[in-house]
Amino acid sequence: MAEQDQSGTTTSGTKRGVHGAWASRWTFVMAATGSAVGLGNIWKFPYIVGENGGGAFVLVYLVCILLVGIPIMVAEVMLGRRGRQSPINTMRYLTEEAGLHGAWNAIGWLGVTAGLMILSYYAVIAGWALHYVGQMASGAFQGASAEQAGAIFGNLLADKNTLIYWQTIFLLLTMAIVIGGVTKGLGVAVRILMPMLFVLLMILLVFSYKHGDFERGLNFLFSFNYQALTWEGVLEALGHAFFTLSLGMGAIMAYGAYMPEHARIGRTVLAVGFIDTAVALVAGLAIFPIVFANPAIEPGAGPGLMFVSLPVAFGNMTGGLLFGSFFFVLVTLAAWSSAISLIEPAVAYLVESKGFNRITANLSLGLMAWVVGLGSVLSFNEWADTRVAGFTFFEFMDFLTSSVMLPLTGLFIAIFVGWIMKPDTVREELDDESNRVFFSWRWVLRFVSPLLVLVVFVLGLYKTFW
Ligand code: TRP
Repeated sequence: MAEQDQSGTTTSGTKRGVHGAWASRWTFVMAATGSAVGLGNIWKFPYIVGENGGGAFVLVYLVCILLVGIPIMVAEVMLGRRGRQSPINTMRYLTEEAGLHGAWNAIGWLGVTAGLMILSYYAVIAGWALHYVGQMASGAFQGASAEQAGAIFGNLLADKNTLIYWQTIFLLLTMAIVIGGVTKGLGVAVRILMPMLFVLLMILLVFSYKHGDFERGLNFLFSFNYQALTWEGVLEALGHAFFTLSLGMGAIMAYGAYMPEHARIGRTVLAVGFIDTAVALVAGLAIFPIVFANPAIEPGAGPGLMFVSLPVAFGNMTGGLLFGSFFFVLVTLAAWSSAISLIEPAVAYLVESKGFNRITANLSLGLMAWVVGLGSVLSFNEWADTRVAGFTFFEFMDFLTSSVMLPLTGLFIAIFVGWIMKPDTVREELDDESNRVFFSWRWVLRFVSPLLVLVVFVLGLYKTFW
């Protein structure tokens, strides 16, 4: 196999981006993993598994990762590396290169918008985690019953000033890193944060194995109870496959733009997908045994699952206080390295095309996310009873982004790369892959992924609203 000894640049004529590049392929893996592994894996995955009854949902999710997520991730990295710019300008460059209609630029715009919308509520939830680091460490949950933990969580949700305080801190932390730029800011941050995260998660798993009801947790996650599955659930699983891999909004495209010319995209993406899935499953394995060890706690408790059940469990186990604070540090770190990828594409765009520097770009976008995020903050207290089509503001933002915008953008990307771009151009960008790998990937991307997204999308929406 011709292993990266070709010198010089590719014939594609792509330019090196203005934002710099990752120090190495390894940094890209860490950055992409940092983006992928986040609240989606540790907070959201367990609670939507709980709401959708366990095993069957997990299986659907795994199928979506394999047949939709991974192929589309390869496509996104490939597009980004070829365009070498923010998703918006990458798409503009690629559509012009291929002489296509400007409507394809919608991929970039839809993505960047979705990213900011996700960031708005992501910062609110990450704020809960930040708040909980102190709560756990101070012993607030020491010996707490489920009712007491529920009350502490309920008080937090009712207290909009505290929510806004932590939401603001989290956004400031995120902007601080992104202002540092690609190599100095993001690159360094993920190299330090990611390994710490893995160590903390393994510690938590051992703890849960020793002190939780491990067998029931295992059973819940992996028994195929298909009666619990609905089309809404399947759409949620599909949407979550996009969400957890950071697909469908240009985050991975933007990161791909900073990737070295000769890194092999295929195995890099497989590594990221594998780590992300492993973290979600390990998080589930760490959380559910603790939930089941405590009869007063419901697996289907919703967004509060981790914030009510875990503190109870931790508060009543030896060493739980220490491990509990560790856990919320872990969650905050994971959220932090994800949030930077939610804002980076829009920052890159403002810098490229609107003459912003990284500081003003971050401040303006951060402010936007902050203002919209206030809606999510209020949806947990003052606006809790205000509903649009049955959704609170937070639920609506989550649904609109994960279940609608991400799959839709993903569908467009699959069609763009699979059907619209010249096969030769695509092959050129993926020239390190063997024929067999390349053609199987392309086949899945052309036929399987779009069809699956389309069917699930239409049926899921139909069942949600009618
Ligand atoms: N993947 C992250 C998580 O699981 C969230 C995230 C970061 C994201 N960047 C994204 C989701 C881009 C969608 C698109 O928590």
